Amino acid sequence: MLENLRQDVVDAYKNALAALENSYSPYSHFKVGAAVKFKGVEQVFYGCNVENASYGATICAERNAIWSGVAAVGKQDMEYLIVVADQKDPVPPCALCLQVISEFYDAEMPIYLGNLQGLQKVYKLKEILPVPFNSFVA
Ligand code: THU
Repeated sequence: MLENLRQDVVDAYKNALAALENSYSPYSHFKVGAAVKFKGVEQVFYGCNVENASYGATICAERNAIWSGVAAVGKQDMEYLIVVADQKDPVPPCALCLQVISEFYDAEMPIYLGNLQGLQKVYKLKEILPVPFNSFVA
């Protein structure tokens, strides 16, 4: 378990868990919650995965959180992302979500991964996605 976390990160983790509880996942039964913090924006945005009978229209918790943040305050630089799942080993963002995150690429950005017990790991974005595709920076 990660210790000595900033209070706003701990609060965002708890709210991400609350979002996880709202997960609509009748097909996978795999509940995920996410939080995104933008630089210079106090409000933190949350998301859960919302599945669909078509499967393909399912939206991940991370993208749900990011798009809700963009809808509220516009596209901003990202400060950190939190992903929580009810799993022993916490789950990183899937490749589709990483592609969305790459639009906000900051190599040093922390991605916190947690489960119901707490935040367990933190990676820098560059560790999870070392070679992003982004036509603006390529
Ligand atoms: N899921 C997420 O919400 N985030 C991830 O990073 C991995 C996968 C969701 C999608 C689907 O509803 C369920 O988890 C199983 O893949």
